[in-house]
Amino acid sequence: MNDTGVHDTSMTSTGMNAPQAGLAIDVTSLVREYHLGRGRILRAVDDVSFQVEQGETFGIVGESGSGKTTLARMLLRLVRPTSGSISVLGVDPWHARRSEHASYHRLVQVVFQDPYSSMNPKMRIGSIIAEGVRRAPHPDGVDAEVGRLLELVGLPTRYAELHPHQLSGGQRQRVAIARALAVQPKILVADEPVSALDVSMRGQILNLLMDLQRELGLTVVFISHDLGVVRQMCQRIIVMHRGRIVEQGDPSVIFTSPQQEYTRILVASTPVVPVAP
Ligand SMILES: Nc1ncnc2c1ncn2[C@@H]1O[C@H](COP(=O)(O)OP(=O)(O)OP(=O)(O)O)[C@@H](O)[C@H]1O
Ligand SMILES: [Mg+2]
Repeated sequence: MNDTGVHDTSMTSTGMNAPQAGLAIDVTSLVREYHLGRGRILRAVDDVSFQVEQGETFGIVGESGSGKTTLARMLLRLVRPTSGSISVLGVDPWHARRSEHASYHRLVQVVFQDPYSSMNPKMRIGSIIAEGVRRAPHPDGVDAEVGRLLELVGLPTRYAELHPHQLSGGQRQRVAIARALAVQPKILVADEPVSALDVSMRGQILNLLMDLQRELGLTVVFISHDLGVVRQMCQRIIVMHRGRIVEQGDPSVIFTSPQQEYTRILVASTPVVPVAP
């Protein structure tokens, strides 16, 4: 146990608030409350602190309603924290100047569970990706960059001409990843990116994310209710329960010897997802 009462199995833990070179994300005592009416308050995220190193794939795992997406949305500057602080590559998104908001949204990109809902069905795939491409400088031109991004995520360049409904769920998730990468982010938040896909597609998308993380040196925050998936993807994880971190550290260690009853239940309910080594 550390001084926050959270079981921590990480060997490299440097202390919760210590400044550290190479840090991508530094979250301290983060709280998000929702007022439910009649004076009732829900703490969706309750006093959460963690650090993510640059180039790391960091997992956030926990059952439905444990606060994972709320936490992600605060990092993405979509939901304002009730209290606590966030630093992303030295930038506090909630105290940044208005003129810095656009550059913050380029720095941190997101891939959601259901890419279809975030894609305009009338737009061609090429135009969807081009929207992001135009927000960053590309000396070879927009079309060339769209083609490069499609190839990067394993789709033929001719898919630029298609519409979202002509693609499978897995292919649409590849487009969502290409769209996120189009602005050349340093950090990619993936919120349940394979949960809506059938099992055969999951391994492919997980492998793609791992390849891209290595190739581009991205920092990835990977969110899942599935400890098995997180174990395959992440160097370090936090386990969330009712808004709080109950366990954190090396996912293999947590998987083989969970210290908390809640984590034991998560491990016991974990299906095995095939991912190539
Ligand atoms: N806008 C909101 N108003 C009120 N309560 C909310 C709001 N957004 C989230 N919550 C509540 O906060 C808690 C955490 O929700 P959150 O979506 O962060 O969980 P999650 O871990 O992402 O769950 P899931 O695995 O189902 O995606 C839940 O109890 C949810 O009902
Ligand atoms: Mg969620």
